[in-house]
Amino acid sequence: MTTMSPTHKVIIDTDPGIDDVQAIAFAIAHKNIELLALTTVFGNADVKTTTRNALSTLEVLDSESVQVAEGAESPLSTNRLDAPDFVHGIDGLGNIALAVPQKVVENMSAAELIVEYVNRQPGEISLVAIGPLTNLALALELDPGLASKVKQVVVMGGTVIAPGNVTPLAEANFINDPHAADIVLGAGWPITIIGLDVTMKVSLFDSDLANVREKHPSVGEFIWNSSRHYVDFYKAHYPQEREVDPSTPMHDASALVYLVEPSLFELVSGPARVICEGIAIGQLAIDRSNRKFELPDWENRPTINAAVGVQGPQVKDVFVDTLLDYSW
Ligand code: BDR
Ligand code: CA
Repeated sequence: MTTMSPTHKVIIDTDPGIDDVQAIAFAIAHKNIELLALTTVFGNADVKTTTRNALSTLEVLDSESVQVAEGAESPLSTNRLDAPDFVHGIDGLGNIALAVPQKVVENMSAAELIVEYVNRQPGEISLVAIGPLTNLALALELDPGLASKVKQVVVMGGTVIAPGNVTPLAEANFINDPHAADIVLGAGWPITIIGLDVTMKVSLFDSDLANVREKHPSVGEFIWNSSRHYVDFYKAHYPQEREVDPSTPMHDASALVYLVEPSLFELVSGPARVICEGIAIGQLAIDRSNRKFELPDWENRPTINAAVGVQGPQVKDVFVDTLLDYSW
């Protein structure tokens, strides 16, 4: 008897973002993912830009029926950091001058859309957050019972052991809104962090993207063109695995791969906090001691999972094969 893999009903909270686009393409292409909506947030660019990119991406990917709701334009309590145009380009998508989208946003905020979907289908929706966590924190504020009604939350963000990518300790999505990240990690829903410990070990090569482009000329061209700026950044700042075949870390798409292939990841668990001020601002801190510290800052914090190990080449192959197998 063959067992059927479950279909994951997914809302992606995103700041597209070059690697966000790759994650969205994977969600659309994977047979066990039903992508319901994208909710947008500031991060890789301002929120008007990330929203426009989400709408355009869905048009290029032939998925106009996926709803888009615009979310937060700034963090809960900190000042908004400058957008990393040196990584994602001024337009957030590698300066590729995309056409203005015809598709429009829903008449509700990102937080409202999340709350509405989850209450309509309690226990069925997975949230995959691949940008700063402001919208998820706002959704928890809007519906304090939300955490018990979400199936699971997967977050690309933070780092347990590996160095940060914005400061020596902090990853971009967490430092962009540390207070929101701390709220999301304290909400008590089933949550898994896919951070830099693993995403830096999932290398997506130009040869992979060239194969996707050959199979799907229009979608593949879009993914290839938008990633040129990203490849240049990683070539300049990080050691390359192969001399003539540049690669970038597959940050955001790895969170989606975790949803469908969790056995490719190794997890640790414990209560967690996100540092909200000082030189360690944005740092993910997990208590792996198995002790009960009677400290107000750690009491009553729920256990979360964080990935620390990954079968990198296999995760990348799941991504590439899924795109290749889809009929765009
Ligand atoms: C994360 O930050 C953004 O630049 C990427 O889109 C990804 O979500 C990686 O740290
Ligand atoms: Ca992102």
